[in-house]
Formats: sequence, C-alpha cells, structure tokens
Amino acid sequence: MTESRKKVDVVLKDFILSDDVLLKVSALLLQEFNNGLSAQNHKTATVKMFPTFVRDVPDGSEQGKFLALDLGGTNFRVLCIDLDGDQFNMINEIYEIPQSIMLGSGEQLFDHIAECLGHCLEQLGLTHRTLPLGFTFSFPCLQKGLTSAILVNWTKGFNCCGVQGKDVVQLLREAVKRRGNVDIDCVAIVNDTTGTLMSCAHKNKDCRVGLIVGTGTNACYMERLENVETWTGDNNPPKQVIINTEWGAFGDNGCLNFLRTEYDYQVDEISLNKGKHLFEKMISGMYMGEVARRIFVKLANDGVLFKGKLSEKFNTAYGFKTKYISNIESDPRQKNTETRTVLEKMGISDASDEDCEIMKLVCARVSTRAAHLVSAAVATILNKIKRNHTTVGVDGSVYRYHPHFRDLMEKKIEELTDPNYKFELMLSEDGSGRGAALVAAVAVRTVK
Ligand code: GLC
Repeated sequence: MTESRKKVDVVLKDFILSDDVLLKVSALLLQEFNNGLSAQNHKTATVKMFPTFVRDVPDGSEQGKFLALDLGGTNFRVLCIDLDGDQFNMINEIYEIPQSIMLGSGEQLFDHIAECLGHCLEQLGLTHRTLPLGFTFSFPCLQKGLTSAILVNWTKGFNCCGVQGKDVVQLLREAVKRRGNVDIDCVAIVNDTTGTLMSCAHKNKDCRVGLIVGTGTNACYMERLENVETWTGDNNPPKQVIINTEWGAFGDNGCLNFLRTEYDYQVDEISLNKGKHLFEKMISGMYMGEVARRIFVKLANDGVLFKGKLSEKFNTAYGFKTKYISNIESDPRQKNTETRTVLEKMGISDASDEDCEIMKLVCARVSTRAAHLVSAAVATILNKIKRNHTTVGVDGSVYRYHPHFRDLMEKKIEELTDPNYKFELMLSEDGSGRGAALVAAVAVRTVK
C-alpha cells in the first residue's frame, strides 16, 4: 500500500460502521421512537413521530380526478391525476423554486405556489373546476387532522419567514384567494414518506413503511393506535395510523455524537438549520456531496490528493454535488471515465490515476455509511412492527440514482433485522404525486 493510501485510510476510518455500532444506533433510535410516541415524553422528544391522520392503505377502489401539489424535493410540481382502480394517468408540470423564494417570506412562497397552480390549471383548461387536492408538503408538521398541518421547522435549505408555527393549508388557501382566478378544495396534506407508502401500498398490499432517501431522509410506517399515546383522533377501526417519524432529527440531542466525524460537524456548522436534523446531514442528498468535498479538501491540504492543488469549485461550499458521488461510483474498477468527467466539471484536468482511485474510495465510504445508517433505521422499524413480511416503499434521488445504494441497504437491513421479519424494498412510482392523490381519494371516499 502506498503512503498516500495509508493516510487516506486514516482519514476515512471513522466512516466505517461495524454491525455493533449499527445495532447501537438502532437501539438508540428505538428509544427515540418510543419517546416520540409517549404522552409524557413527546414534548421534549427529538424524533417527533407525528400521527398523520392517514388510517388506511388504499383498497384499489379509489377513483376520480385529483390535483396534487408537491413541495419539498428538488422542484415544485403541480400534478393532475386520474385514478381508476389499478390504472392511473398523470400530467406533471415542474416549476423551479428560486433561492430568493426559498429564503424569502412565507407570503412570497405561497403566492408563487398559487401562481404555478393557476398557470397549470390554465394550461389544462381546468380553471372552472374545483377538483379535490392533495398537498404533499415534505417538512416536519404537527397535524391536527387530515387538512391541518402546522410547520414545526424548515429543513433542506428552505427558510421562509412567517411560516413556522402556522397552518400551511391555511396559508395555501389564503394565497389562492389573494390570486383569485381559481378555487381549491384541499382535502389532505401529506408528507412525501406517506405519499410513498400509499402509492406502493396501492400495488402491494404488504406495504407498511414509506422511506425517502433524497434531498432529505425520513420514513413513516403504520402503527397500532394502542402504541400512539399522543393520538387525538377517534378510536374506531382500523385501529392504526401512519406515523411520520421525522427521523432526520435523530441525534439532535447529542446521542449520535459518538459517531459524528469532524466533517459532519463542519457541514452542520454552515447549514441553515444548525444543530438540527443531524441524522439527515450524514445521509441525504443535500449534504452527502458536501461531506465528501470536505474530505477532498482535507486530503489535498495534506498533500495526498491532486498534489495539494485544488480548484475554486473544490474550495466552494456545496461545490461538489451528491450526484457526482453516484457518477464516480459508477466507474468500474481500474476505469476512471466518469471520475474524470466529474473532475473536469470540478475544474481539475491533471489528476493522476491514484487521485481517481482515492476519490472513488472517499465516495464509497461516504455513501456506504449513509446506506448503513438508513438500514439501521429501517431495521428499527421492522423489528418494532414485528410483521412476518413487510414491503418498504422507497423513493428519493440518492436511492434511485446511486449505483449500489439499494444493494447495500438490502444486505445490511437483513443483517440487522430479526430473521423472522422478512422484507422487500419496492421502488415507488412517484409517491409524492400519486400518493397525495390516493390520500385525497381515500379522504373523499370516507366523507361520502
Ligand atoms: C426532511 C423533512 C421530511 C421529509 C424528508 C424527505 O427530513 O423534514 O419531512 O420527509 O426531508 O424529503
């Protein structure tokens, strides 16, 4: 082994998590889950375990035309969905949310959403109709019912003032009213994890968990009401409710500090929500590239990478995108085509083969740690719900586009879960859109 490789291994050592460590992570998360569900402890709990008021999975009879809004991923989308049993048809308009709006006022944000909605309905010739609407709003919300959600705090680079502590459905209705040219009938607000669970459950009756590994990370699952001491709704059958865990906040009380590296501390330090969502910051697409970039900077400064010379992009916060990790790890052994393409984009043209190999190793260590942490968290849910077979619906850019994420997860979840509880991972087909429509459809059906 070369001297450089030895130094790299020292820097990357703490990114390798043994099964013992992962089992400890899982035990800690179970404690946090139980705190979040407990009447006594939930106020101070870091993992909030919000009841979603979604009580059942679709039964296949859902029908009709629905609108869905999707805010909280890379883009904002307006969707029009036709459901008819197993069939569905979907029109999808994508709109950008400029940074100025992500960091502006709540009024600007909701005016922008109302404008995009109006524009989409005009395009579809639907301005005269008031279709039931499902709003996928993928941030931590305390729900008071299916159509009321109070934003607890922003995550993932959003920070619009005047929204925290307010009901976002109300803010949406007010913005639509201000604009005046269309009417809406918001019948459900859902988190993207719930949407993912619902859209997978529509096809697969065993689906009880929804997981996102994208810009952020989070999961939801179906819990028995008797375990939800914070439940304020009725106790009629089905005696269950989907719980939005908001596990991104796991570790915010310091319980994961034993495994956070100096790079994790740095990434948190420059983030908009410092000290918050620390688990998410070790895993999700918003941060993984930045963790890797900080390791590259360290290795270059130590003279181990790029002969100690860095480009401006490498020296810029968030200059190295998470999708580059997927690109680099797609290179087969001994081949550096993708890695060199990424390096070109990063402004480095004279990297050696050893530089490329080191980059691949850094990417693999960072993404494998992320996959293993998510796996420990999924295993916690599977071991908690104790079902013989559970389908886990999954979505998100990291899971979808990383070449090995799924395989890593499958293997590690199996190692960390009681062998009596079998599982399968199912890629969701647009949970945020279709799932919101399905929740809306179930809501409409129940009211009827
Ligand atoms: C963040 C949000 C959460 C969402 C997740 C995935 O963690 O707080 O609500 O589900 O990102 O998008």
